Amino acid sequence: MRPPHAALLLLFILAYFRGAYSNGSRSRFTSIISFGDSFADTGNLVMWADPVLPGLLLKNLPYGETFFGHPTGRATDGRLVLDFIAEALGLPFVPPYLDKGGNFSAGVNFAVAGAPAVTLQYLQGQNLIVNPPINSSLYDQLVWFQKLKPSLCKGRQGTDCFGSSLFVMGEFGANDYRSFLLSNRTVEQATAYVPQIVDSVSQGVEVLYMLCTE
Ligand SMILES: *[C@@H]1O[C@H](CO)[C@@H](O)[C@H](O)[C@H]1NC(C)=O
Ligand SMILES: *[C@@H]1O[C@H](CO)[C@@H](O)[C@H](O)[C@H]1NC(C)=O
Ligand SMILES: *[C@@H]1O[C@H](CO)[C@@H](O)[C@H](O)[C@H]1NC(C)=O
Ligand SMILES: *[C@@H]1O[C@H](CO)[C@@H](O)[C@H](O)[C@H]1NC(C)=O
Repeated sequence: MRPPHAALLLLFILAYFRGAYSNGSRSRFTSIISFGDSFADTGNLVMWADPVLPGLLLKNLPYGETFFGHPTGRATDGRLVLDFIAEALGLPFVPPYLDKGGNFSAGVNFAVAGAPAVTLQYLQGQNLIVNPPINSSLYDQLVWFQKLKPSLCKGRQGTDCFGSSLFVMGEFGANDYRSFLLSNRTVEQATAYVPQIVDSVSQGVEVLYMLCTE
């Protein structure tokens, strides 16, 4: 039953943004706050300090060549789904959190290419290979969000601050399973961890909800 559910969700999302876009009036969203992995990273991984990550392929062409004309840190030659959502809502491309000069008044992106749902410490504790071996998990991205929140809100609380923000959560999980494959584990061994990986995504959503409503 999974593929039909995924297809329905996608249709819903498309219909929703089409509605927001085709109305002629301005979108009700004034910012986008994004979490995830390479499906959403707009530059965080390449801004991660060397020498932890030397020789990243993302820093070179053909990444970026068909739309931006140069590598941006996106894991594609063009735009991400997140970029099309931003364009449809009339908002700027979502700037990466690690861009210290970034203007986050219309959004910020915590996504990091390669990010797992569960922590680095946990995966390495299971003797799994994590590549890149950095603290970029959903948990770590939520810590970043919590740190940035005062400067995003400037004294406003809960819905006063985030009532017109679009939160984009994920995708998460693919890199957790990739760790099992990199470590030569079987699909059966990886399957045993599915409940835990799904749980950490849903807990992450709940923590985010709590941080945005307190
Ligand atoms: C479309 O515009 C109408 C009238 O301005 C408004 O009531 C409605 O909420 C808008 N819908 C969307 C999806 O922006
Ligand atoms: C930051 O971005 C906002 C919204 O896109 C814009 O209105 C504002 O002028 C920008 N600020 C600076 C300092 O560039
Ligand atoms: C990740 O975080 C843990 C816990 O804070 C720390 O002990 C570890 O050194 C960090 N690893 C890297 C690669 O930064
Ligand atoms: C996984 O298996 C391949 C092929 O047998 C081998 O070359 C590689 O070193 C193995 N990797 C690990 C982490 O065991």
